[in-house]
Amino acid sequence: MEEKKMIKVKCFRFDPKKDESPYYDTFEVPLNGLLSVQDCLLYIRENLDPSLAFFINCRLGFCRRCLVRVNGKSCLACLTDVEDDFTVEPLLKDKIIRDLWSKGL
Ligand code: FES
Repeated sequence: MEEKKMIKVKCFRFDPKKDESPYYDTFEVPLNGLLSVQDCLLYIRENLDPSLAFFINCRLGFCRRCLVRVNGKSCLACLTDVEDDFTVEPLLKDKIIRDLWSKGL
């Protein structure tokens, strides 16, 4: 039986209501076929940390509410596929509501 590939997802975390400064959490996610950044974030929230905050709406590339930075480049989380470890951060770090969710998107 083939072992599942695990990837590391390093997530920006910050809750302006309780954290003094931002930090990063790293989660291991099984790569089952092709996964989007949003699939990884959903896996983390459903299986590893229900407190991870990010925004999902259409999941089709229309609303642009899921814009984040992946390895420093802005992208739509719902349309960006991943094959290896990555770092995900909010698009607008100065307008954070919580974690990967920014105001104004
Ligand atoms: S969720 Fe609407 S564009 Fe990604």
